[in-house]
Amino acid sequence: MAIVLLTSVHTMAQKTLVTATKGKFLIGVAVNAQQVNGVNPIETELIVKEFSAIVAENCMKPQTIHPEENKYNWNDADKFVAFGEKNKQIVTGHCLIWHSQIGRWFFIDADGKDVTPEVLKERMRQHITAVVGRYKGRVKGWDVINEVFEDDGTYRDSKFYQILGKDYVKFAFQFAHEADPNAELYYNDYNVEKPAKCDAIVELVKGLRAEGYRIDAVGSQAHMHMNSPTFDETETSLKKIKAAGVKVLITEWDISILPSPYEGANISVNFKYSKEMDPYREGVPDSIQQKWNKRMLDMFGLFLKYNEVVDRVTIWGLTDNTTWLNNFPIRGRKDYPMLFDRNNQRKPVVDEMIKMSKI
Ligand code: XIL
Repeated sequence: MAIVLLTSVHTMAQKTLVTATKGKFLIGVAVNAQQVNGVNPIETELIVKEFSAIVAENCMKPQTIHPEENKYNWNDADKFVAFGEKNKQIVTGHCLIWHSQIGRWFFIDADGKDVTPEVLKERMRQHITAVVGRYKGRVKGWDVINEVFEDDGTYRDSKFYQILGKDYVKFAFQFAHEADPNAELYYNDYNVEKPAKCDAIVELVKGLRAEGYRIDAVGSQAHMHMNSPTFDETETSLKKIKAAGVKVLITEWDISILPSPYEGANISVNFKYSKEMDPYREGVPDSIQQKWNKRMLDMFGLFLKYNEVVDRVTIWGLTDNTTWLNNFPIRGRKDYPMLFDRNNQRKPVVDEMIKMSKI
């Protein structure tokens, strides 16, 4: 009994990242449908208490929300948006147009052949209009486009690109703006720290703005590893985006503690499991944990340094139990990238982040 009491008093007194970073940037978290539905009430409570912004980990993606032509699944997305409103959190929509997690129907006709450019453009219009229109005025901003470029700055050879060429990007921004003229619109990608990719994104943003399209921010997913990206690469990318005149959002931040065979975040990539690639099943050695803590603090310090342009820092998940990195890019590993551990306890690094934020 005494222990329970002490814990709850301690919890009450605990400061959060939200209060510590007030006036600097929003602190966000990606949430899954179970968390919105309160399946594990402890997780739901943490989301409400420790974060000022939420994004849906999966339920707004094309495959889930629009699985077939003219068929929409609004259930989880409706609950997600209502959850954010109830808890006075800023709600972000993720994501409208992406080559992954989208039904194959989007690109083919009744004979299974690629649709014409006109048909694909019309499907994009219908999809974006329906989704953005449904949550008009309730979602602050949308990841309009996810992952247009390869790491070398060339256009990804996606179905959108094959059928419509570069213009599909403009169409997406145009349709989103028409559906909710007050919503912020974002370009989102991983490995934004890679110089050639960053340059390509900056060129795209400048071009869109010069032609009068609304684009408010570049979302840098920031799925990081222990050795990449480097601190300097990350800082340079923030500087370049700042110079382009848009805001930066850190949209999917996590730092994997595990060895990685792959530096990107293309979710279709998958490597075979081996024990050597899963070294911390019984726990993380202290020296490695210290390295991870330092890296988290270095990167967080950088986001604080650029807080004039960094509007939001969102962590891609809540606890080490629920992180997608336990299954990417290798299935069935035990990773430790989140701010909360497998017992839903806040990690000591958060207290350090709070201290840094006040300076
Ligand atoms: C991931 C989710 O976290 C997983 O649950 C899902 O199985 C695959 O997608 N970049 C993105 C996110 O923009 O939408 C991805 O989310 C991670 C990589």
